[in-house]
Amino acid sequence: MKKTDYIDTNDFTKEQLLDMVELACGMKQMIKEGGTYPLLLKHKTLGMIFQQVSTRTRISFETAMTDLGGHAQFYGPGTIQLGGHESVEDTARVMGSLVDILMARVDRHKDVVALAKHSAAPVVNGMSEYNHPTQELGDLMTMIESLPAGKKIEDCKLAFIGDATQVCVSLMFIASIMGMDFVQFGPKGHQITDGGLQVDSDVDLLAIGLANCEKSGGTITISDDVECIKGADFVYTDVWYGLYDEQESAESYLDVFYPKYQVTPEMMDFAGPNSKFMHCLPATRGEEVVDEVMDDPDRSLCWDEAENRKHSIRAILAYLCPQSVYDAAEADEGRAKVDAVMAKLGKQPCQSID
Ligand code: CP
Repeated sequence: MKKTDYIDTNDFTKEQLLDMVELACGMKQMIKEGGTYPLLLKHKTLGMIFQQVSTRTRISFETAMTDLGGHAQFYGPGTIQLGGHESVEDTARVMGSLVDILMARVDRHKDVVALAKHSAAPVVNGMSEYNHPTQELGDLMTMIESLPAGKKIEDCKLAFIGDATQVCVSLMFIASIMGMDFVQFGPKGHQITDGGLQVDSDVDLLAIGLANCEKSGGTITISDDVECIKGADFVYTDVWYGLYDEQESAESYLDVFYPKYQVTPEMMDFAGPNSKFMHCLPATRGEEVVDEVMDDPDRSLCWDEAENRKHSIRAILAYLCPQSVYDAAEADEGRAKVDAVMAKLGKQPCQSID
C-alpha cells in the first residue's frame, strides 16, 4: 500500500483534513471525557528528529504515541546523522526501515521533503522555514470547536496580524482550503507576497492560496491597512522575531512592527465584539500581544490551541501510520524457533505472542 506523508496541507483535500479533525475530536472525547485510550498504534515506534528546540510539538508527539499504545524516540539537534557524513537520503532509507513513522523539525524544508521521498515509513513535517502543518491542523480543530453561533468554518474570517512567518503562510493554506476569508495585516516587506519565506524562488505562496480559493470559495487579503481585520472571527498573531530570523536583530523588528501590529484589547474590539484571539506560542508578551489579550478568559484560545496540538497530532499519527497485516502461521513458525533456542538455553518459552 502506498504510504501517505504529511508535509504540506495543500496535499490534502478539505474533506481529508476535516476527517483528521473529526478523528482528533473523537479521540479527545474518548480519552479526556471517557478515560479510554484507542490503542491504534500498539507496538509502533515514532522517530522524532529535531534540528531546533520545541516544547509543544515534541511533547505532543511523544504523548500522542504513548496514548495510542506506541512509543516515541527523540533525536535532538546533533544526535543523529542528517546530511553530514551520511546523506539525508541514506539516513531516510535506514530510519524508514527501523521505525514505523517519522517526524522531523528541520532547518531546511528540502530536508523533510527528502526524508519523505526516501523513507519507507510515513514522514510528518514538524515545522520548517516554509510551513507548520501540524500547527495548522490543531488550529483548525480549535476554530471548529469555537465557531461563532450559527456559522460554519467556511463562513468565518481569520485575520493574521504581523510577520509572514511559516505559521502565517500555513494559516493562509488551511483557511483557503476550508473556504474561509483569510487576511494578513502586516507591513510591506513582511507580507506573504514579499518572498521572505520562499523555499524556492519558483514557489508563489499567494498563487497556491488563490488556487485553493478557486475551489473552496475562500478569499485572501494582504494589507497594511488595519481596516482589513474588521469582522474577523479569529485574530491570530505570531512572534516578530523567531527561530528562522537569526539574520536580523530583534531591535530592527520592533521598529517595523511596534506599536501598529501589537494585538491589544482595542485591536480585538476593532476586529469585532466577539472576535477570539489565537497564537501558536511561544509568545513574546509585550511585543506582538499584551497580557490582557493573552490572559482574557473570554477571548483567548491560545491555551486550547496548545492542548489541541496533542489531540490533533494523535489524529495525524493514526491517519498516516500503516496498520500491519500479520500471518498467524508465520508467527507460529517464528515462535517455535524462538522457543527451541530458549529451551536449549534452559530458559522459559515466549510468554506472549501479542
Ligand atoms: N507552536 C509550536 O510549534 O511550539 P514549539 O516550537 O514549542 O513546538
